[in-house]
Amino acid sequence: MGLGAVAISGAAVIGALVAWPIGRAPDDIDLTGDVRRGAYLARAGGCIACHTNFEKGGAPLAGGAPLKTDFGTFFPPNLTTDPVHGIGGWNVQDFAKAVRQGVSPTGQPYYPTFTYPFYANLTDQDIADLWAAFQTVPPVSEPAPAHDTPFPFNQRWGLKLWRAAFLDRPRTDPVYGNDEQWNRGRLLVEGAAHCAACHTGRNFAGARVSDTQHFQGNNRLPGGGKSPAIDFETLRGRDWTVENLAYALKTGITPSGDALGGTMGEVVLQGTRFLTDEDRKAMAVYLMDEHTGG
Ligand code: HEC
Ligand code: HEC
Repeated sequence: MGLGAVAISGAAVIGALVAWPIGRAPDDIDLTGDVRRGAYLARAGGCIACHTNFEKGGAPLAGGAPLKTDFGTFFPPNLTTDPVHGIGGWNVQDFAKAVRQGVSPTGQPYYPTFTYPFYANLTDQDIADLWAAFQTVPPVSEPAPAHDTPFPFNQRWGLKLWRAAFLDRPRTDPVYGNDEQWNRGRLLVEGAAHCAACHTGRNFAGARVSDTQHFQGNNRLPGGGKSPAIDFETLRGRDWTVENLAYALKTGITPSGDALGGTMGEVVLQGTRFLTDEDRKAMAVYLMDEHTGG
């Protein structure tokens, strides 16, 4: 095959990828959302944390601080009710597809910098609640900056290959034989609270290596940070208990009296601090248990 033919078949492959439909049709969601429950979930899930630029005093959900990764710098978009620069023109089906499947209203794949893989098991009621809460956010008619991604990462169709190779389901299914508290902790830790997003190592393609590195820490966090391992053995070896872990998720204070720093400080400040004592305890129970199993 001559070079020209390679180029042509390469172009054909890319053309096919661009046209390759992804995601399932979203289910009809015809439920009344509970604004308070939705706001709670938006805290637990980090939606507010990532999509608000607190440092610059930005309005809630009007677009987040830049996330620097190996693949470029990403700007969490404006999720306010503005019809042009936010998601005011969307319906709950569009929202469900974006959040649970990582697919835009026009069928484009989202970058996994958006932690949608952790939200895949949110229920229809969760989505309806989040949506109801988002409807109460005042419009901000300013766009978030465009992502700054070098070639080839600026080619969204490439994410279709990424999805096919690496997209996994969150490990939130209840485990028979464990009580309600443990399973509630699992649902939060492995799902919405996306602790593995930062505490699990990633491969060359930026995908979490969930089978061998789950909760083993990550030396290359966005922005150059490092996170320690948080598997139960490491935690126990570092004097963590259910009680002091639940307390740290509330206050940011570690057993040795230090403050949790870096992005973990933000996780507490914009996220776990707002959860109920029961939920923080459930997360700690799950994390400290040797049957968590990764
Ligand atoms: C770690 C940061 C992070 C967290 C946490 C996060 N997002 Fe995002 N989100 C992003 C980024 C980055 C994008 C842009 C993705 C892209 O352009 O492909 C995005 C995109 C979106 C979009 C698409 C917006 C559009 O204009 O197309 C929606 C909707 C969304 N996020 C909702 C949520 C919800 C709901 C939550 C919480 C359950 C959440 N996000 C949590 C970073 C985050
Ligand atoms: C945005 C990235 C990020 C997310 C998400 C995240 N962490 Fe962290 N975590 C870190 C970083 C960075 C550190 C190190 C903090 C420091 O050095 O002070 C850390 C430290 C910790 C520690 C201290 C461990 C030790 O022995 O020092 C615990 C416990 C912890 N995280 C639990 C969690 C839990 C539970 C979740 C989910 C609710 C979570 N983390 C989500 C980044 C993250």
